[in-house]
Amino acid sequence: MCGIVGYIGVKEATPVLLKGLKKLEYRGYDSAGIAVLGAGGLEVCKSKGALNKLEEKVSALSAQASQTGGASKKPFGGTLGIGHTRWATHGEPSDINSHPHTDISGKIAVVHNGIIENHRKLKEWLAGRGVVFRSETDTEVIAHLINYYYAGELLVAVQAALKRLEGSYALGIICENDRDHIIAVRKESPLVIGRGGGENLIASDVPALLEYTRDVYYLDDREIAVLSKDKVEFYNEEGERVQKTLSHVDWDAGAAEKGGYEHFMLKEINEQPKALTDTLRPRIIPAGGTGAMASSRSVNLAEIGFDKSWAEARRVVLCACGTAWHAAMVGKYAFEYFARIPSDAEIASEYRYRNPIFNPSDIFIIISQSGETADTLAALRLAKKNGGRVIAITNVLGSTLAREADLVMYTWAGPEIAVASTKAFTTQLMCVYLIALQFGLLRGNLDQAGLDHYIEALEKIPTQAEAVLKSKETIQRFASLCFNKSKVFFIGRLFDYAVSLESALKLKEISYTHSEAFAAGELKHGPIALADESTLVTALCTQEALFDKMDSNIKEVKARGASTVVITYDDVHHFDESADTVFRIPRTPDCFTPMLSVIPCQLYAYYCSVLRGNDPDKPRNLAKSVTVE
Ligand code: M6R
Repeated sequence: MCGIVGYIGVKEATPVLLKGLKKLEYRGYDSAGIAVLGAGGLEVCKSKGALNKLEEKVSALSAQASQTGGASKKPFGGTLGIGHTRWATHGEPSDINSHPHTDISGKIAVVHNGIIENHRKLKEWLAGRGVVFRSETDTEVIAHLINYYYAGELLVAVQAALKRLEGSYALGIICENDRDHIIAVRKESPLVIGRGGGENLIASDVPALLEYTRDVYYLDDREIAVLSKDKVEFYNEEGERVQKTLSHVDWDAGAAEKGGYEHFMLKEINEQPKALTDTLRPRIIPAGGTGAMASSRSVNLAEIGFDKSWAEARRVVLCACGTAWHAAMVGKYAFEYFARIPSDAEIASEYRYRNPIFNPSDIFIIISQSGETADTLAALRLAKKNGGRVIAITNVLGSTLAREADLVMYTWAGPEIAVASTKAFTTQLMCVYLIALQFGLLRGNLDQAGLDHYIEALEKIPTQAEAVLKSKETIQRFASLCFNKSKVFFIGRLFDYAVSLESALKLKEISYTHSEAFAAGELKHGPIALADESTLVTALCTQEALFDKMDSNIKEVKARGASTVVITYDDVHHFDESADTVFRIPRTPDCFTPMLSVIPCQLYAYYCSVLRGNDPDKPRNLAKSVTVE
C-alpha cells in the first residue's frame, strides 16, 4: 500500500524523504512524489514509475535551477517536507495522480494512504465553490478542504476538514504559511512518528525511520500529531491534548537490509530457522528440579492469558487473509488434532460481511503479519463487538491488531520486507501449534508424556528447516528446468492441503504462473479435466496414513501426461514409481510438517520468479500490507 514519509529538522529534507521512500518500496507502489518547503515556497515533484525516476526528476530540477539561480534558491533544499509512494486506487498511475496533492493556492500539500469514501460528494461540494480538480484521486479533496477551512491556523483547518472525511486515512500535511510544522493524522491506516534530537519524522512503517531514530510513537486511530523540529504534540479528535508513550524499536537497522542476499525474499526464507527458534524458545519452560520438586517441561502462554478458564471454550475461530489464512487453516487442523475442539478457519474478507454466529465462550485467533490488514482488522472488531475473547498473532509490535486485540502473541520473525510472506508464515504456524498443544493438555486430550514428545519435536524444527534449506541448489536446478510451465497444481490432504494452498499462492504472486491448489480427493470431481502434458503437479505427501491415497492421485494425473513432483520424508520410498522428482524433508510428527514442507515450495516460487525476470520482492499489482478493502 502507499508509503508516507515526512521530515522536519535541520537537515535537507529531500535526501531524507527519498531514502525513507526507498525503505517503504516493499509496500508496493506505482508512482512517487515529494513536497518540500524551500526558500522559493512549496516545491512539488512527482513521477509515475520507480523511485529512481523521481530522483532523476528532482536532480534535473535542481541542476536547472543552479544554472539559472543562486544557491539561496536551491530547489528542494528546505528542511521540512513530505513524501509518498502511491499504489493506485482512484485514478491510473500517472504524474498528476501521484501524491503530494496541493490545494488551489498551491500552498498546502497532502500525502495520503487509505481511501476517502465520500470523495465524490466532497468533490461536487468543492466544485460548487469554484475548485477545479487536477487529478482523478480521492486524495485531492483533502488539500482543497483544508484550504477551504484555513484562516491562518493549519491545525484548526485540518481538524475542520477531518470532520468531513469518511473512510480511512493516514495523512501528512504541510503548508507554506506554517514553516514550523508537519501535521500527521491517522484513521485506520498506519502511521508512526519518529522522535529524534532536533528533528522529527513520520512514516508508514518503522524501517523508514531507523537511520534517524529508534524512539517512536504509534499514532492511534483518530489522533493528530503536530511535529515541529524540537517537539511532537498529540491531539484526539475532540482537539484535546493527549499524552503518548514513547516506544523503543529494538531491531538493528541491518534487520531491514538485504544483508548480502540478492533479494529480501531469499534472505527471509533463509532466516526461518532463527525466526522459528526465536518464536519457540521463550515459550518453552524446561523441566526442572528433582524428586518431589520435579516439574515437567511446559508451554508458557501467559502473554495470551492462557489459563483454566480456556476450558470453557467450545470453539476456536481463526481468522486471517492470504498466507495468514493458510496458517489459520493449519491451526484449525491442529486444534482439532491436539485439543479435539471444534475450530473454523475463516477468510477475514468474507467473514466481515457474513452474519456469523457468535458464542460468548468462543476464542478468536486473528492472524496477521503486518497487523494492519483492513479486512482482518474488521473481523477483529466484529468479534470484539460480539463479546469473543480475541487473541492476535502478529509480527509487528505496536500494530493496530496488537493494540486492539485483547491479548497478543508475537511471531518473533523480525521485519518481513518482501511482499511474499515466508518467515511470517512458518512462525505463525509455530504459534498456533503451541496454543493447540497447551489446549490439548488442558482439555485432557494430551498427557504430559505426549506434550513432552511434541515439544521435543518442535525444538528440532529449526535445525530441520536448516537441513531443508541446504537443498536449495537442487530446487534451483529443478526450477531452471520448469520455470516456464504454464499450469502448476499443488495437491494434498488436510495439513498438506493447507501447504498446497500456500505454495500455489506463493508461486502465482511472484512468478505470475497460473498455479492452483486442490484438495487431492477433489481432483476427480473436476480439476483433473485440466491435467495434460503441460501440467506440473506437486503433491505434498507428508501424512503416512494418506500415502496410498496420495499415490493414487499422483498416478491419475501422471496417466494424463502431467509431470509430477512429490514432497515427502527423506526415508520414504512410497512414491518412487509415481514421482518424476522427489523433494525430501526430515522426519517430524505428520502434523508439524507444514513448517518444513513449505520451504521447498517457497524456494521454488522464488527461483521461478527470478528465472522469469521478475523482482520477487516487488511483485506487480501487490502490496505488502493491504490496508484498504
Ligand atoms: O499482513 P497480513 O498477514 O495480514 O497480510 C495478509 C495477506 O495480505 C498476505 O499474507 C499476502 O497474502 C501475502 N502477499 C502472501 O505472500
